[in-house]
Amino acid sequence: MRKMYMRLINREHPLPENYIPENLVDIGIPFDALPGDPKRLLEEKAAFAALELITRSHREGLNLWGVSGYRSYQRQKKLYTGSPYVAPPGTSEHQSGLALDVSCPEIHMELTEDFARTKEGIWLVRHAPLYGFILRYPANKEHITQVPYEPWHIRYVTKPLASYLSLTGITLEEYYAIQG
Ligand code: DAL
Ligand code: ZN
Repeated sequence: MRKMYMRLINREHPLPENYIPENLVDIGIPFDALPGDPKRLLEEKAAFAALELITRSHREGLNLWGVSGYRSYQRQKKLYTGSPYVAPPGTSEHQSGLALDVSCPEIHMELTEDFARTKEGIWLVRHAPLYGFILRYPANKEHITQVPYEPWHIRYVTKPLASYLSLTGITLEEYYAIQG
């Protein structure tokens, strides 16, 4: 199972169409979606880590909200438009239940680059790795991740790997290229 947490998911490394994570649970954080909506779910361990991260942010006076967590293959297929911001079905980390999009009221819960300039967005860069998450699509790494800068998309990879990636400043793609 640990392997799944660290797995590289992208256009070259898709998930099977029928992959559905076990143990999907409601994260239990303020969410820009109604109770019962599958986008409020994450894989259990990722959900608990996200709860700890978001709870700490609230204790520190910030206003982070969940916007999109788990997304099925079928849902991703419906959303896919060909835009680089939306991964083709099977290649989205959201299908793994390990990715969460977050935003804040200051930018009306939108998922835009403006998030990076909010208090919440700045705080997230520093604190996400302490809870096992990475900012999966950093600026200036588009040529490697094949996804534009997404300051709102965090991916659970476990604490040791998140620390390593944030300290070295490399993406998951670069990490696996080094590992061979
Ligand atoms: N926005 C990311 C690339 C996704 O759709 O998974
Ligand atoms: Zn996302």
